[in-house]
Amino acid sequence: MSDQWKRLAAERAVQDVEDGMKIGIGTGSTAEHFVRALGARVRDGLKVIGVPTSERTHQLAQSEGIALTTLDDAPELDLTIDGADEIDPNLVLVKGGGGALLREKIVAAASGRMIVIADDSKLVDMLGIFPLPIEVNAFGLGATTKAIEACLAENDLSGDLVLRGGQDHPFVTDGGHYIIDAHLGKIPHPACLAEDLAAIPGVVEHGLFIGLATKAYVAGPDGVKTVEAQA
Ligand code: A5P
Repeated sequence: MSDQWKRLAAERAVQDVEDGMKIGIGTGSTAEHFVRALGARVRDGLKVIGVPTSERTHQLAQSEGIALTTLDDAPELDLTIDGADEIDPNLVLVKGGGGALLREKIVAAASGRMIVIADDSKLVDMLGIFPLPIEVNAFGLGATTKAIEACLAENDLSGDLVLRGGQDHPFVTDGGHYIIDAHLGKIPHPACLAEDLAAIPGVVEHGLFIGLATKAYVAGPDGVKTVEAQA
């Protein structure tokens, strides 16, 4: 069911894409539905140019016949459409379950608007049940992990820090970094945590997306609803 809802949300979002737009294209199973829906519109004559947020999305978008560029040639985008792992009532997101958080955040930040697409299991009152992905430089992993632990303690948070993929075969991001998944259970003050994590030298990026999403299309048994940030 959830995959069908992901597709419904993606198909709603593709209606917001207009001729001539420069589009940031997200990563993940929901974003893949969007890429396919966008590909269908492109084959019907829609003229857009996209910036993919991962190598995986790049390949799929290319196979769908979507014209692609980079943020070097198109540093300002009109709209990014992407999935999320958690969405809170203020449209603060946890992202990075698919490992693409760094490029996703760079692309979203370069976009005038960001629409999130998701099934309704992603809507939460408080972030943190989904482990928070933290992208780190491979150099100094032990020291960076200790610094993250200290940062969590300062924020009254605790939980396991798990190197994605394990020590023997760590998951490597498109940028060549590792991911530590922080199992926190709750993130009551995402803005404070985001600021403190970003200040750790070995942290390349974290999965808290704050002030980036402008709207979400969330699909469930009653169809697709639009979620706007609460005032
Ligand atoms: C990719 O790194 C993530 O940020 C995805 O956008 C997020 O994990 C949502 O993925 P699904 O659409 O597969 O649930």
